[in-house]
Amino acid sequence: MANTKTLIAYYSRKGQNYVAGTIKNLSVGNTEVVAKKIQEITGGDLFEIDTVKAYPKDYTETTHVAMREKKENARPELTAAVDNMGDYDVIYLGYPNWWNTFPMAVFTFLESYDFSGKTIIPFCTHEGSGIGSSERDIKKLCPDSTVLTGLAIRGGNVSRADNEIQNWINRLI
Ligand SMILES: Cc1cc2nc3c(=O)[nH]c(=O)nc-3n(C[C@H](O)[C@H](O)[C@H](O)COP(=O)(O)O)c2cc1C
Repeated sequence: MANTKTLIAYYSRKGQNYVAGTIKNLSVGNTEVVAKKIQEITGGDLFEIDTVKAYPKDYTETTHVAMREKKENARPELTAAVDNMGDYDVIYLGYPNWWNTFPMAVFTFLESYDFSGKTIIPFCTHEGSGIGSSERDIKKLCPDSTVLTGLAIRGGNVSRADNEIQNWINRLI
């Protein structure tokens, strides 16, 4: 992928989270850890997808809010936009698995730009459900993009996933 311009866009919720069977307080979200490793490897630009309305600090409350948003097919408002999306050829798109797909904020993100002709490379962190239906959901929202095979990493394993991330990127390019 020489001469391509790469963006790594990710949503990640720091704070209270469920990791390897217990509630932990994460100063950096799991998906953010992976996004930063991809940034180091690819040299791409990093963009954090975030919502204007914060989720509750409490993990369980957040799962309830997220479930309600999914049922309502909500589109949470985002704090910032990528002004130069047209410049990018390749977009690594990262998110936690929330109720078997990505948070509704990522639906907002995907509907905010024209990804036609671009390559989208999904990556997610999860607690057992893997990538869920998220790859299919990206393909539905971006039918004119090429969606490559995503990487799913368990949240508790992100700090020792360097080789896995590197090998996955080597296979893609
Ligand atoms: C609202 C919510 C829903 C979740 N739903 C799932 C799920 O359906 N399957 C799963 O494996 N993990 C689920 N998880 C766990 C997260 O995917 C996991 O902790 C992830 O690593 C969090 O990434 P982050 O720190 O980048 O936000 C959920 C977590 C939250 C907060």
